[in-house]
Amino acid sequence: MSASLWVRWMAMQGVPRAFLSVRALRGDPLARLLLGRAEPMERNLLFDRLRARGGLVRTPFVRVSADYEVCRSVLRDSRFGVTNPVGTGLPQPMPALMNWADPGIPNPVEPPSMLMVDEPDHARYRRAVAHSFTPRAIERLGDRVETITADLLAELTGDADLLTGYAARLPVAVMADLLGLPDHMHPHLLEWGDSAAVLLDIGVSWAAFRRAVASLRHLDRYLHEHIPRIRRGELGETVLDPMITDPTLSHREIAANAALLIDAGFETTVNLIGNGIVLLLENPGALARLRAEPALWPAAVEEILRLESPVQMTVRTAHRDVELAGERVAAGEMIILLLAGANRDPEIFADPCRFDITRPNAREHLGFGAGAHVCLGAALARIEGAAALRGLFERFPALRLAAPPERRGLVTLYGYRRLSADLGSPVRSPAPGA
Ligand code: HEM
Repeated sequence: MSASLWVRWMAMQGVPRAFLSVRALRGDPLARLLLGRAEPMERNLLFDRLRARGGLVRTPFVRVSADYEVCRSVLRDSRFGVTNPVGTGLPQPMPALMNWADPGIPNPVEPPSMLMVDEPDHARYRRAVAHSFTPRAIERLGDRVETITADLLAELTGDADLLTGYAARLPVAVMADLLGLPDHMHPHLLEWGDSAAVLLDIGVSWAAFRRAVASLRHLDRYLHEHIPRIRRGELGETVLDPMITDPTLSHREIAANAALLIDAGFETTVNLIGNGIVLLLENPGALARLRAEPALWPAAVEEILRLESPVQMTVRTAHRDVELAGERVAAGEMIILLLAGANRDPEIFADPCRFDITRPNAREHLGFGAGAHVCLGAALARIEGAAALRGLFERFPALRLAAPPERRGLVTLYGYRRLSADLGSPVRSPAPGA
């Protein structure tokens, strides 16, 4: 790896990492959270403490909110924009150094990925793919999702790691289908996505950063062949077609957004399914109710998204001076929006730490964000989550964990690395592809 990559890491991640590490050593709970050192109990306590201090809290290094109303209003307010990791709010020469050291590969968490640009570019990119992800378009995918789920369940026997053997495989298969990616690519996509997921965090280590960039390089090389194949019509219809045929979009714009769809499409949903498996095993009453009333599965998925949010936080930057929650936020200031904290705000969700699949307002959670950047794949994630969890618990009624679940160790993307399970006997054998 080149020296310029190290310079880029240092400017983007190394300096914040050193700063956060010093603060964490002094016991700063937010720094501990951002470095992935806070256990779930400590994290929840931090959310409560922050809310007790106000809707918007100023810390020595950043503003932060765990308050539902503040998080939601910032996400929906056009006076705030996304936080470009390449230089936002940092003094020169940091941004200049980062640009000089740009490895020039499509990165889902840097511009021109739609996740990291404001209007008007954001609307241009999003519009090109949005119609494939509307609830109506996704409804038509329902049978395909059920078929893939049944095929995966048919392969599960005895002892299994439900994370790699099941939860990760459904979303990658569905996204690969939509993007025209062949089956033999699934393991590569999973490996690349897993290494790149860390880039959503703040203060990433040099080793993890290097691995992530290496994975993005592999993906870039692959997209360099894949995009022309779509352009030549060799892969049938894909969700990328409107982007690829848009003459105003460059290869880099198409590739960055394709990389975003690939990673966002399964690195998040795997956590919804994994977190759901653990929550339901910990709450046998809820599971019994779902067995008796399967119509409650969609509501259970909302409650999982609320209580164990797969995306725990996002960041926004003020475009101009703004009055917010009685505070003045200056142009250029960043706010960390703790979506997971907002989803446990007792002002909105009664008894917020309780898992309640009949909670009337669970669907109001901010697990998919809100405003212009609200999750494009929310409808897809919802049907995948319900199909995967319902299918698994119906087929293996005696399912239990064979070892304590192992956490993934990321901060923004929250989920498990391994779920070793003893499946017990299957109830019936779904015909593969049925
Ligand atoms: C449980 C699963 C998922 C969760 C919790 C989730 C969560 C989120 C959140 C919180 C955001 C907003 C981030 C921000 O405002 O900074 C987002 C954006 C996005 N998500 Fe998802 N997501 C999930 C699944 C998916 C799937 C299956 C896709 C596949 C299409 C997808 C594609 C996207 C895209 C493209 C964006 C960027 C939208 C934009 O910037 O306009 N997500 N997601």
